[in-house]
Amino acid sequence: MTLTPDQIAAYERDGFFVQHQALSQAAVENLLACTLDFETHAHPGHVLEKDGKTYRAFHGCHLYDETYSELIRAPQFLTPAQQLLRDDVYIHQLKVNVKQAFSGEMWPWHQDYVYWRNEDNIPTANIVSVMIFLDDIDEFNGPLFFIPGSHSIGCVDAPKAEDAPEGWEGNVSASLTYQIDAPLVTKLVAKGGLFSATGKKGTAVWFHGNLVHASPPNISPNNRRIAILTYNAVSNTPIIQPETLRPEFLNGRDYRPLATLDIEQIALPA
Ligand code: SIN
Ligand code: MN
Repeated sequence: MTLTPDQIAAYERDGFFVQHQALSQAAVENLLACTLDFETHAHPGHVLEKDGKTYRAFHGCHLYDETYSELIRAPQFLTPAQQLLRDDVYIHQLKVNVKQAFSGEMWPWHQDYVYWRNEDNIPTANIVSVMIFLDDIDEFNGPLFFIPGSHSIGCVDAPKAEDAPEGWEGNVSASLTYQIDAPLVTKLVAKGGLFSATGKKGTAVWFHGNLVHASPPNISPNNRRIAILTYNAVSNTPIIQPETLRPEFLNGRDYRPLATLDIEQIALPA
């Protein structure tokens, strides 16, 4: 799938755009079945909510699960990533955020690239994420909120939040390490407004590494599961500093350019 000039213009202007029906229902069901299986296996990249029992996220699934490893090569994701970054690409990060019914917690206002810059030494913001809906998402089950155009402010030097957990755990918790403060959010929303990322399962939303975003808790009876694939340009690989490296499930080590795989290979349930 090749992006249209309008989609590329929206990405540059707003910092995001929506790709409808990016995945078939069968492919989504296949991914969900794998995701349910993750709950039965311990892995250091599997993270819980503050209650210590509800799953919050599974990180680096493409490193150990064949279906997710195929997903990153599917043409409807890999080709736009190459187009948007104007380069060959590899996966810097992949996660499934499950935001479960009744207990899924919030994500405070933040930008993603500040984590990849400060923690992983990725030199520029030429990095893009695509969020794939594994459930129908509406206003009730904790959709992402974007501030259109907020990527244009560049990467904000947010101070470390005092209540954030130490180390990489803080980077994925409901008390995030680097947050955008209320006065700046207010100013950005006054200019750009708010966009709520809702839609049917199989929808994909592409967003820039500097786009300011957040999401509220899920108090509804419906899960809100999403996969987020972060592609980086091969010309933008991290400047390695071994003593500070985050685990591979957050900070990809395989910089080889990805080649596309036929989507039919993941389209049918196993
Ligand atoms: C994120 O900001 O990376 C994820 C937010 C969410 O899952 O709602
Ligand atoms: Mn984020």
